[in-house]
Amino acid sequence: MKICVIQGPNLNMLGVRETNIYGPMKLEDIHNQMKVVAEQNNFEIEFFQSNLEGEIVDKIQECLGDSDGIIINPAAYTHTSIAIRDALRAVQLPAVEVHISNIASREDFRKTSMISDVCAGTIAGFGPFSYHLAMISMIQILNEISQMKAQQANNG
Ligand code: DQA
Repeated sequence: MKICVIQGPNLNMLGVRETNIYGPMKLEDIHNQMKVVAEQNNFEIEFFQSNLEGEIVDKIQECLGDSDGIIINPAAYTHTSIAIRDALRAVQLPAVEVHISNIASREDFRKTSMISDVCAGTIAGFGPFSYHLAMISMIQILNEISQMKAQQANNG
């Protein structure tokens, strides 16, 4: 099974950008850690980062038929993008929303997420460790789905 990790604008600047909020870790290092967890659990994993809303929409659409679940940090688009929300609804894949910072405790405009209610759940505020928690959650969701499918196949 395959997990697609989608990263929004400015996350390519982790380690340089507002390190007081986002910490010193680079995106590549976060991805390397996620890769280890994926391999330990026999999951394939793909990483994608874009600063462009339309490219993120395209990537979500491409996940249909290619990935089993999506881990997504839409970054600033979290708070604005109906297009990303609609794309997640369109593909109907299990998705986990992730944020490095606790968006609920920051500026008011960050308190609204356009995607929370179309995701299985949201993990925010644990720094780069949020991604690890998102991985564990996604693996759990996908394992439950494949167990359900196996049971249905046995019963039917
Ligand atoms: C973020 C929070 C967003 O509000 C912000 O625009 C980001 C990163 C986070 O991971 O904490 O770019 O998604």
